[in-house]
Amino acid sequence: MGEEVRDISSKLSGREYIRGRDGRVFVLREFEITDLNTVVMINRRVLPENYPEFFFVEHYRSFPKAFIVAELDGRVVGYMMNRVEFGWSYIWKGKPTRKGHVISIGVLPEARRLGIATT
Ligand SMILES: CC(C)(COP(=O)(O)OP(=O)(O)OC[C@H]1O[C@@H](n2cnc3c(N)ncnc32)[C@H](O)[C@@H]1OP(=O)(O)O)[C@@H](O)C(=O)NCCC(=O)NCCS
Repeated sequence: MGEEVRDISSKLSGREYIRGRDGRVFVLREFEITDLNTVVMINRRVLPENYPEFFFVEHYRSFPKAFIVAELDGRVVGYMMNRVEFGWSYIWKGKPTRKGHVISIGVLPEARRLGIATT
């Protein structure tokens, strides 16, 4: 494929090729608006909490770096929507802090257990 493939680790920068647990390679990249229909479909297939299209679009506009999709064999098979919030720390009691919030995460059944969600 001509692209560098890395093992599962924790940092996403640009379009990353990652070798999953069974050896198949998946891609993590930022959401693009052309992914909208696929992400809506995945959300409806795998989760009971379903959102209208504008919810995904609003999230993309507000937190474009925190809306990630996974591709396997050239098609989007999973997504993760995150945002940073301010609230009370669970670790330092009584102190305000920034918190990462996973809004929604879903991976199609045929692409599970590769490490997509945890990567
Ligand atoms: C939860 C979900 C996103 C995990 O996706 P994934 O890419 O398969 O996850 P990973 O491969 O990174 O697995 C990480 C770990 O999660 C756990 N896990 C993942 N899928 C699991 C399953 N079906 N049953 C039990 N544990 C599971 C395991 O501990 C796994 O590690 P392991 O394979 O070493 O045992 C996916 O199963 C999914 O879309 N489920 C339906 C939607 C959902 O429940 N979303 C979370 C609530 S918003």
